[in-house]
Amino acid sequence: MINPDTTYHVMGLTRYVDDRDFPARGLHCVVYFSPIAKGKIRDLDTSDARKVPGVVFILTAKDIPGKNQIGGVIQDEVLLAEDEVAFVGMPVAAIYARTEDAAREAVGLIKIDIAEDPPVLDPREAYNRNELIAPVRTFILGDADAAIASAVYVAEGRAESGAQEHFYLEGQVCVATPSEEGNIHLSSATQAPTSVQRSVAKVCGLAMNRIEVDVRRLGGAFGGKEAQANTWACFAALGAQKSGVPCRIVLRRSDDMLATGKRHPYASDFTLAMDGSGKFLAFKVMYYQNAGAAADLSTSVLERTLFHATASYYVPNVHATAASCRTNITPNTAFRGFGAPQAMFVFDAAIREASRISGLRVETLQHKNLLKTGDTFVYGMAAENARACRCWDKAYAYYDLSKRMRAIDDIRRKEKDTGQVSRYGRGYALMPVCFGISFATAFFLNQARAHIHVYTDGSVGVSTGAVEMGQGVNHKIREIVADSLGIAPGQVKLESTNTTRVSNTSPTAASSGTDLNGAAALMACEMIKARLFKFMADEYHCASKDFSLGTGRLYKKGKACGVSWEELVIQAYGSRVQLSAEAHYSTPDLHFDISVEKGRPFAYHTYGTAYFEAEVDRLLGTYRIETAYVVHDLGRSINPIIDLGQVEGGMIQGIGWMTMEEMRYTDLGKPLTATAGTYKMPDIFSVPSDMQVIFLEDDYNDKAVKGSKAVGEPPFMYGIGAFFAIKMAAGCENAAYCAPMTPERLFGHLRKRA
Ligand code: MTE
Ligand code: HPA
Ligand code: MOS
Repeated sequence: MINPDTTYHVMGLTRYVDDRDFPARGLHCVVYFSPIAKGKIRDLDTSDARKVPGVVFILTAKDIPGKNQIGGVIQDEVLLAEDEVAFVGMPVAAIYARTEDAAREAVGLIKIDIAEDPPVLDPREAYNRNELIAPVRTFILGDADAAIASAVYVAEGRAESGAQEHFYLEGQVCVATPSEEGNIHLSSATQAPTSVQRSVAKVCGLAMNRIEVDVRRLGGAFGGKEAQANTWACFAALGAQKSGVPCRIVLRRSDDMLATGKRHPYASDFTLAMDGSGKFLAFKVMYYQNAGAAADLSTSVLERTLFHATASYYVPNVHATAASCRTNITPNTAFRGFGAPQAMFVFDAAIREASRISGLRVETLQHKNLLKTGDTFVYGMAAENARACRCWDKAYAYYDLSKRMRAIDDIRRKEKDTGQVSRYGRGYALMPVCFGISFATAFFLNQARAHIHVYTDGSVGVSTGAVEMGQGVNHKIREIVADSLGIAPGQVKLESTNTTRVSNTSPTAASSGTDLNGAAALMACEMIKARLFKFMADEYHCASKDFSLGTGRLYKKGKACGVSWEELVIQAYGSRVQLSAEAHYSTPDLHFDISVEKGRPFAYHTYGTAYFEAEVDRLLGTYRIETAYVVHDLGRSINPIIDLGQVEGGMIQGIGWMTMEEMRYTDLGKPLTATAGTYKMPDIFSVPSDMQVIFLEDDYNDKAVKGSKAVGEPPFMYGIGAFFAIKMAAGCENAAYCAPMTPERLFGHLRKRA
């Protein structure tokens, strides 16, 4: 079960793109970024920069041989600025030099003259100026206005959540090597090798078959390398194409944080209506998404926000509208959860508001309205096999939550009665999660291929479109293959992800890496097995179905027949049986009609519940998340150790987003927190001291490979509970629903109250 990658990571033996030897004749690329958020370029002077010894050439927009365009979903993003800049950190020129130091020195000598315009930073303001990335979208279920008119309680408010830096440990990086006939090989740290291939081909003016993208592994990505690895791959490729020698680009941390997009900040207005008992009747919401200066994946992210508008709850009447608003910050991008966390934060804020005005307990409202099998989501799909209640009930029972909450309630009541308020306050929050699995509406992405070779010694090589980024997809696929062929995982090697071996890959994203590529790998194994069994059936004059594989041996009708896996393979090879297979998997039964915003966009949903306790120092505004208890629905886990890591890691990343991680900008759009020293993230000391995760009983999910469920993103959203636990602990229930709840912000709330 242990993922061997772990050992290599811990021993420092894992090799990332920039750990490989780079030839002395190669060139190093450093990018010059716009220092201004918005304006027209009057003059760009690179003459002094060109004189720096070691500088070979400097590229600007006009030097691009192909198209100066890296937009994916919408063609609205240039690689290098032409006449105007749209955000601080926008690439303006690329310097290629013999050493990285020389290139950096040259960057410092570039002079730019920009006629500066006031930037737009706030999505509501962008919306009011009609600065939209795409037309506004609205999802409707039932009649929200009519239901609101008949409701007993109507809670209204605003909620805001902030940006989040991916902070992958390995920064953006690419090494491009020219090969024969002007072809280019790229070692890229990307979640989307095909997207890099397409983007580089377009910018270099070459056909896709001339670009080979190879990805061994990433040192973390979290969505930040789904679209945004393309930029850096293009710079490396342009350098290699022009110079004919290898070209390397490695962003230093501060450049990476300055120039790459983050999680989208959202501003939202909500109305939640319920009857006298706390049953939800209607939810109305308007989301203003801060897309940044270009579309990137914003429209897809926005769509997932709409899909998850009502989180884990059933609301019969919904009116959800969302606008992707163009502003002058970095184009924001995919980040674990992909727009769903922003929606779920708004809904749980609305529940707190509804509790505040009605006096009904938050947990009562949550529990009463949890999704049940057959309930319809706003997009028309009915919940199948809903497990929201099972996770919730199991959390109550297993962690004795009623008792824990009562203990905190008692202290708070005593404080209220006696007026003696302690410096340290405690609070709790439950956070149920329901997350749809599949690439939403970009249905074509719900496909994968696997290519498997069995070598004559019985060892196996597996290529798929999946990219290993620390989430363990390679090891999961290794276990699927080993189990199918009845051999030890050590006999199976996961090859790099390479566009020449496996083409037209979907990004490893939407938590579906194993669902898609693991399923394709299993199909390829089945194809090879069918050939081997047919070969043996012909030899032994019996039926293929009599054979099976296990423990490194061939079995006939359940009995070992004295033929090892290795003997089987060599015999089959001797008889010219094909020992390689390629399989294609595509998720069945997905459809969506965008004209009515209804359909079946997800293969299935995954569920879970988290419970948090926080302690706040009401004098200082500092806090600790002390307790995090989770019940998570995994189906039949392929590797519970990896999955546990995903649940814990995702949740802590979510807590970071909700509590301490904050991107701040000056009024002119200059980032104030784009360095490792100014951007505060969770570390090992912010991990809840009492963190427990259990899985729902080994339940078979017939919608994914081997009964499993995707795990990569859903646990992120548990972190939202931490925000509400802190708010309660501070006694700031009336304060704005504005995340992150940094200690500074909490201090402000506490002072206002005092
Ligand atoms: N876990 C690690 N260690 N590193 C990562 O970069 N990315 C997350 C999640 N878990 C990530 C991670 C994101 S955003 C996604 S979509 C999934 O992993 C992608 O991989 P999967 O589809 O194989 O789960
Ligand atoms: N997640 C990640 N990437 C995507 C998605 C998604 O749901 N849809 C399209 N690209
Ligand atoms: Mo994950 S945000 O889908 O890469």
